[in-house]
Amino acid sequence: MSLLSVNNLSVEFAVDEGTLRAVDDVSFYISRGESLGLVGESGCGKSVAALALTRLIPSPPGRIVSGQVFLGDRDLLRLKPDALRAVRGSEISMIFQEPLSALSPLHRIGKQMTEGIGFHKDMSRKEAWQYALSWLKRVGIPDAGQRMYSYPFQLSGGMQQRVMIAMALMLSPGLIIADEPTTALDVTTQAQIFNLIREMKQNETALLLITHDMGVVWEMCERVIVMYASRIVESAKIEEIFSRPVHPYTRGLLEAIPTPARGRNYLKDIPGQVPSPLRYPQGCHFQDRCGYAFERCRNEKPGLVDCGDGHLAACFLAYPGREYK
Ligand SMILES: Nc1ncnc2c1ncn2[C@@H]1O[C@H](COP(=O)(O)OP(=O)(O)OP(=O)(O)O)[C@@H](O)[C@H]1O
Ligand SMILES: [Mg+2]
Repeated sequence: MSLLSVNNLSVEFAVDEGTLRAVDDVSFYISRGESLGLVGESGCGKSVAALALTRLIPSPPGRIVSGQVFLGDRDLLRLKPDALRAVRGSEISMIFQEPLSALSPLHRIGKQMTEGIGFHKDMSRKEAWQYALSWLKRVGIPDAGQRMYSYPFQLSGGMQQRVMIAMALMLSPGLIIADEPTTALDVTTQAQIFNLIREMKQNETALLLITHDMGVVWEMCERVIVMYASRIVESAKIEEIFSRPVHPYTRGLLEAIPTPARGRNYLKDIPGQVPSPLRYPQGCHFQDRCGYAFERCRNEKPGLVDCGDGHLAACFLAYPGREYK
């Protein structure tokens, strides 16, 4: 059974120019212990989709207009605020791109960590302090005992990220959502942070990893979802996506990965830009950047179809009756 299943999730924002739909009819699942990647270019709705899972969309201007998010038999979109707060942190933890958005600037690390524990686990203050300290050590913070007394701004970006990871993992949640957890960091620290997440992630903890980077997904994930302009365009096991990508957008993303064979100066972007959500076209959202678009693509939005073994793609080229190579 899935740990989390998302059905037909749609999220809109009211802006000056009108209403934009940032997430459109998105459905997916995550199994217990699974690592799932969510990729797509900037502005495709990855963060909004992730935030909506635990109702963290700023409202107004945001609004979850439809959908269900089942964690076991509870629909998180319909849970009472108290029950939802208990889910956040103890059952689902988030790691953000900007650690300072998750850490309070006003409180010392030790205090923040023990308060987080106190809320979710049955421990005395002293036990909570020791437990938090043990996690700071586990994530590789030097002089952890002293760091418990530091304020977040006294730590480097990499160390702040480690603190956030410790806070996310120490409550042994069933699911960790990591939204671009390393984009603010240098390449070496990035690699260390990913190693850390991999090592620390226990077998029964699932991971939803949001990134622009297909290479990271290959390293970290078992399955991947590709989002383009508010909709899921493809999802499959990782080997499948790399060996048999179906959607032209996914193919473009894969061709953009720099590899040793492609050389140091390789830079190949998909031509064109993600359209603004205020100007999504009537048919397939990718049509203007797609070399294969034909008439049906201009008029109708393709839904996801099964291309075999659970590999889903939202492209008319993959629909039965068409030859697609
Ligand atoms: N608070 C908001 N008000 C209005 N529009 C918003 C708001 N938050 C997000 N959006 C819009 O929703 C769309 C999806 O944004 P989202 O942040 O989910 O993209 P993303 O895929 O996470 O991109 P990135 O890779 O840059 O993080 C964008 O067009 C964005 O402008
Ligand atoms: Mg984002």
